[in-house]
Amino acid sequence: MTTPPRLEVQHLIRAFDGLRVVDDVSFTVAAGEVACLLGPSGCGKSTTLRIVAGVDMQDSGSIFVDGRLICDTVFRIPPERRAIGLMFQDFALFPHLPVSENVAFGLPGGFATNRARVGELLERVQMSNHVDSYPHELSGGEQQRVALARALAPKPRVLLMDEPFSGLDERLRDGIRDDTLALLKEERTAVLLVTHEPDEAMRMADQILLMRAGRIVQQGAPYNLYNAPVDRRAAAFFSDINVLTGQVRGALTDTPFGQFLTPGIPEGHAVEIVIRPQHLKIDFHRAGQGPAPTAENGTAALARVTRARYLGSESLVEFATEMGDIALTASVPGVFLPPAGTPMWLMLRRDRVFVFPKI
Ligand SMILES: Nc1ncnc2c1ncn2[C@@H]1O[C@H](COP(=O)(O)OP(=O)(O)O)[C@@H](O)[C@H]1O
Ligand SMILES: [Mg+2]
Repeated sequence: MTTPPRLEVQHLIRAFDGLRVVDDVSFTVAAGEVACLLGPSGCGKSTTLRIVAGVDMQDSGSIFVDGRLICDTVFRIPPERRAIGLMFQDFALFPHLPVSENVAFGLPGGFATNRARVGELLERVQMSNHVDSYPHELSGGEQQRVALARALAPKPRVLLMDEPFSGLDERLRDGIRDDTLALLKEERTAVLLVTHEPDEAMRMADQILLMRAGRIVQQGAPYNLYNAPVDRRAAAFFSDINVLTGQVRGALTDTPFGQFLTPGIPEGHAVEIVIRPQHLKIDFHRAGQGPAPTAENGTAALARVTRARYLGSESLVEFATEMGDIALTASVPGVFLPPAGTPMWLMLRRDRVFVFPKI
């Protein structure tokens, strides 16, 4: 018999005033896996999390932990008996309790009977020398670490985290994310982490659940979401994108960059050809000549620089194509600041292009 997933959510639906904010959401999270529920503000992420936690109730759908039903529309285990831990944006530490008692809060007997577990966790979040401190004596990053230790102390089977890093200073965040991830992996709990930041999801997730208007529109490893988006909006969620439009003529679409195969899209239908700025290739203009067409890069199109900016680790160079006056942006590592008006040849890396029917 195969082991059931640690967390399984089946066909969850939740409506407010007749509007479905969670609309048939299903997914699984394995033990030791970090799944990120990613999507724009208001798409239903927190509502999904709250239902799993047991602080809100679905209109239909079921939730299982280790194959055991914990909640459907007729049966419901109360939140405190679900072995599910919670961690929210504001950390919500108890201000009148020292760090030791905060971490021991979910453990029967408090700190006095759980010194070993509390000590071990505080050591792992590097807060051992703050056992007797009170929350107001700690920085935001330190409070976050205590909150994480508290959430993990009872060894939850599933840990739910709602935007747990968004209250932190931008410059501290990446380090805290990495430390948090290392601890979550050691504890081997299943984690469902809510975020609206694609970078955070890419950094933390084994599996991304991309959500839009109450539905999961794509799920998979970060690599798959970034490199094989299901539609233009999914592509645009992870970076700026360039979009060329065309029309299907006999399974091909003509562009200034040559023809693109657009199989499966009906004749005459509008097509969007999408490429990320870092996958645009740039070549120099040599006495009116550009590079010869290749299978890898297609045909080069002549363009002129309209603006170039240096952003620190990369330069963003904006172009307008000579043919069709199409605006395109290229991202180039390091410093590359050609003056406006400079003619250059652009190519689209064919293996990096996404083709979608225009909706
Ligand atoms: N208790 C509630 N009553 C009415 N509407 C709600 C309630 N909770 C959430 N909503 C609405 O449901 C939608 C999804 O909210 P939420 O799950 O918090 O989104 P997210 O966490 O993705 O930003 C929003 O439009 C929000 O206003
Ligand atoms: Mg939310």
